[in-house]
Amino acid sequence: MAKAKTAYVCNDCGAEYSKWQGQCTECNAWNTLSEVRLASTKSAKADARGGYAGGGSALVTPLAKVSESEEQRTLIGIGELDRVLGGGLVRGSVVLIGGDPGIGKSTLVLQALAALAGRSKTLYVTGEESLGQVAARARRLGLSLDAIDALADIGIERILDTANAQKPDFLVIDSIQTMYSELIESAPGSVSQVRESAARLVRYAKEAGCAVFLIGHVTKEGGIAGPRVLEHMVDAVLYFEGEAGSRFRVLRAFKNRFGAVNELGVFAMGDKGLREVPNPSAIFLSSHEQPTPGSAIMVTREGTRPLLVEVQALVDQSPLGNPRRVALGLEQNRLAMLLAVLHKHGGFALHDQDVFVNVVGGIRVQETAADLPVLLAALSSFRNRPLGHRLAAFGEVGLAGEIRPVPNGEERIREAASHGFERIVVPKANAPKKAPGGIQIIAVERLAEAIAVLN
Ligand code: TYD
Ligand code: MG
Repeated sequence: MAKAKTAYVCNDCGAEYSKWQGQCTECNAWNTLSEVRLASTKSAKADARGGYAGGGSALVTPLAKVSESEEQRTLIGIGELDRVLGGGLVRGSVVLIGGDPGIGKSTLVLQALAALAGRSKTLYVTGEESLGQVAARARRLGLSLDAIDALADIGIERILDTANAQKPDFLVIDSIQTMYSELIESAPGSVSQVRESAARLVRYAKEAGCAVFLIGHVTKEGGIAGPRVLEHMVDAVLYFEGEAGSRFRVLRAFKNRFGAVNELGVFAMGDKGLREVPNPSAIFLSSHEQPTPGSAIMVTREGTRPLLVEVQALVDQSPLGNPRRVALGLEQNRLAMLLAVLHKHGGFALHDQDVFVNVVGGIRVQETAADLPVLLAALSSFRNRPLGHRLAAFGEVGLAGEIRPVPNGEERIREAASHGFERIVVPKANAPKKAPGGIQIIAVERLAEAIAVLN
């Protein structure tokens, strides 16, 4: 083995430095550099390029000659998981699944392994639990134990040797933070170990054409523990999220080379493990007997499917000189901007009011179509007047007080209609010529027209 070299890697952006420094000059984050031991300069270069070492000239192929069938997919058989992956498991792909401890990552992969049984050769590597614990869980889930091959180990060299001998089509590493390479001196879980182990697994996946799932822990800030470079190395990053105390779990594609990002898969955790929720709109609506002030239903479109989600606002006189603006499941700055638009173009001053906004069900909404429903919910709470019964809304709000169109308007309207909504407030440019089954379309162009809906 060549003499070990060290480098310093930023945990946030993955930039590499030869000396330690307090601030990363690439991403300007402070105190994010950690020491990484490199096995040799050669492997360091290989890592930086995604894991392929070696010189000499390589074979160049015109893309036209590459047939599409080279991207081979296998349906796992768990619909919501297949959907988030972009239509099944891709041969040779590496998928990172992150989530809080106890959210159900091991349960999900165990169920995936069982679903693939008989069709694909699989191997489950656990570095966290004993084989006894894994078997006990599989039994409790009612899975067939014969179908799942498991290995309890953390030595990445031994695991890769075993994989090379067994030739599985699907390999699960639970978790990447427990893996240990003999080439590197630092402890399991350190940035260098995580990086090296992941690089070796990525290389193995591409060479052997094996699909690999890496389970990763998340840090308090919600990123995957270890360097961000992990996210660059893999083909897809899925986050498994859920609200404390809720049995619903959402699997979200944060990055996907083979499918849509922000695609959501929804599961419910029960005593027999995770169950799919194929029609999730219903769970994100809390049921109010009477129309309630401060509640609005939005039609968001995460990934490739529209979802009805309730957004709640509480606007109340603030005892503080500097009133609070709290947004859960939405971007804080966006809320501040919307309140400014509401003042300037709607004439409602909320600057002595605390404003709390929450998206029901613990999901995060990132698209601008949420603007209009958020504004309507805030205004409804401020004036203590409920929005009409069975009313939904979507639309982007511009700084000039205009209501701007968003993609896939008709699909959103259809989703609302299919859930029994009777009226929907939409941007004028999104209004279809003919409304689908029984829903009244209220097309608005300016904020003032949207506010009039409340009266
Ligand atoms: P687990 O898959 O071990 O989580 P992770 O691997 O993400 O740490 O899930 C453990 C949690 O799920 C635990 O709190 C118990 C719960 N659970 C159920 O409610 N029902 C079940 O059938 C199983 C297997 C787990
Ligand atoms: Mg686990």
